[in-house]
Amino acid sequence: MALHLITILSFISIFQFPSSSSSQTTLQLTLTPINPNPHISSPNPLMQTLNHLASSSLARANHLKNPKHNSSAATSTTPLFPQSYGAYSVSLNFGSPAQTLSFVMDTGSSLVWFPCTKRYTCYGCDFGTGNETNIAKFIPKSSTTAKILGCSNRKCGWVFGSSNPVKCDGKEICPVYMIQYGSGSTSGLLLSETLNFPEGDVNDFIVGCSVISTRQPSGIAGFGRSPASLPAQMGLKKFSYCLVSHKFDNAAVSSKLVLVRNNSDFVSNENKVAGVSYTKFRENPVSSRSAFSEYYYLNLRKLTVGGKTVKIPYGYLTPRSDGNGGTIIDSGTTFTYMDGHVHNLVAKEFERQMSKYKRAVELEKMSGLRPCFNVSSEPEKLPELMFHFKGGGKLSLPPADYFSKVGDFGVICMTLVSSENIGSGQGFGPSIIIGNYQQQNVYLEYDLENGRLGFKKQICK
Ligand SMILES: *[C@@H]1O[C@H](CO)[C@@H](O)[C@H](O)[C@H]1NC(C)=O
Ligand SMILES: *[C@@H]1O[C@H](CO)[C@@H](O)[C@H](O)[C@H]1NC(C)=O
Ligand SMILES: *[C@@H]1O[C@H](CO)[C@@H](O)[C@H](O)[C@H]1NC(C)=O
Ligand SMILES: *[C@@H]1O[C@H](CO)[C@@H](O)[C@H](O)[C@H]1NC(C)=O
Repeated sequence: MALHLITILSFISIFQFPSSSSSQTTLQLTLTPINPNPHISSPNPLMQTLNHLASSSLARANHLKNPKHNSSAATSTTPLFPQSYGAYSVSLNFGSPAQTLSFVMDTGSSLVWFPCTKRYTCYGCDFGTGNETNIAKFIPKSSTTAKILGCSNRKCGWVFGSSNPVKCDGKEICPVYMIQYGSGSTSGLLLSETLNFPEGDVNDFIVGCSVISTRQPSGIAGFGRSPASLPAQMGLKKFSYCLVSHKFDNAAVSSKLVLVRNNSDFVSNENKVAGVSYTKFRENPVSSRSAFSEYYYLNLRKLTVGGKTVKIPYGYLTPRSDGNGGTIIDSGTTFTYMDGHVHNLVAKEFERQMSKYKRAVELEKMSGLRPCFNVSSEPEKLPELMFHFKGGGKLSLPPADYFSKVGDFGVICMTLVSSENIGSGQGFGPSIIIGNYQQQNVYLEYDLENGRLGFKKQICK
């Protein structure tokens, strides 16, 4: 490993936050949509992009539902996703002096890692740059604060699942992690490093220094619910974002990711933000799959299409006693995933209410999305899709979030995907995964202090 350059081991496990006169610090970062695939040169690029996003959303769903297990102590069960197409990225500064790198913002996983050392190798990673050797890398030897994490450090266990403590067997450094993805992976060593913000640095931040990856466009910033995640390590009270529309192009549009740090004993008495509805996060189900403890589960009560309730069995909406089923929200999935039965019910209701339009079956096959309707002859009118949460909060999605135009065909397709096409294990893991396509132009606030999700439909800027 190229990391022999760093010889100091870290046994420090104390956060040092700068003192601040205010009770909390609000940091603003920029969130940028990742260009799905600039190299597609077909007569109908949008079609291929949709098709690609549909299959990558399914691969991601398959992985979140069936996180790979590996009995080796050195292998993580952290769930991650196949490709970062159709995801959103954020820049973070690590090290002294600071090195700036881009990360996929992912609420479905927890580790934060970057491509690391000059020898970083990534297979099948020719995404946005057109040249995989151009992926920005962190160079630990250029940072005076980079330290390899020691094996006896309790943080070493974060990545390997709390159920099996790491066996050091006389080894000094925390073992190599390997994280499996739907169709990719990354592996490397954990570092303790400084995460820099103008408002004050976070010292002893545990970050993965990956030296080998497959199918990763950049590093990943895990925002999940485990101790290794960025929000957990920074002690955030809340974070919020509002995703700008995925226009499948290179437009340099972005929006803000807001991090609210908890850096005093001050008791928060913040009022509700105007117009934001809240729903409590659901306690994570107890399961042998430790990955399920990282996801943000929601109490979804029902779905309505055009005001009509879709009769979804309860076990799909909230986790069953065996830990499977339920609804999560995930920024790293593109199109919302629904188990076959749920997807069928939702699709049927749209078909019933949109029966005046002709079905475009050919395009369903080509795009991997269904149902598709030919709306060229009649003015387009879509039934409202609404998520109803426990506590009464209702989220009515902007129509562009659940139907997409397909090329110049005068056809629109529903952008919710189902497992039927890939025949993956239904019934395992979350039944509904709310992806980032369905989060566009919705303000979302992960209020960690109060264990709830805030949401409000708005135009994101
Ligand atoms: C499990 O981990 C070991 C050691 O890291 C590796 O050789 C093996 O291929 C992994 N198995 C799977 C199924 O990923
Ligand atoms: C990729 O970039 C590297 C360094 O900038 C260059 O040497 C190499 O030729 C490029 N490869 C391709 C396929 O463009
Ligand atoms: C949609 O309908 C119009 C008018 O009926 C027709 O000309 C067009 O070919 C149809 N498009 C597709 C993709 O079937
Ligand atoms: C914020 O800090 C207070 C006091 O130190 C602590 O009790 C509380 O749990 C913290 N909240 C979060 C979300 O970490």
